[in-house]
Amino acid sequence: MEWTARCWVGGRVLEVELEATRDLLSALAAAGLVLRSACRNGLCGLCKCRLLAGAVDYAGREPHALWSRERAAGFILPCIARPRGDLLLAGLPLAGGPAAGGLI
Ligand code: FES
Repeated sequence: MEWTARCWVGGRVLEVELEATRDLLSALAAAGLVLRSACRNGLCGLCKCRLLAGAVDYAGREPHALWSRERAAGFILPCIARPRGDLLLAGLPLAGGPAAGGLI
């Protein structure tokens, strides 16, 4: 473990261990938080969630599914995002759960 993601899910905060070289979608799934996804390549937007604190990078890939105003509002694409420190995430589009984009 290098860092921790605190994730707002159903009114609770769950902590997930992160590695700098592992994308967030995979790290969350390994902890039992399976997000909606399809392309796993930053194109479809199904995995979109909000980064409330911390930083990610896309390892040279482009988050095409995000509008510039979404990026400015803190939305990220976990399928291609890698952590760059501790994170606080919300609006996780859990598989079988409510649609993406909510604050919590
Ligand atoms: S799974 Fe398609 S953008 Fe993340």
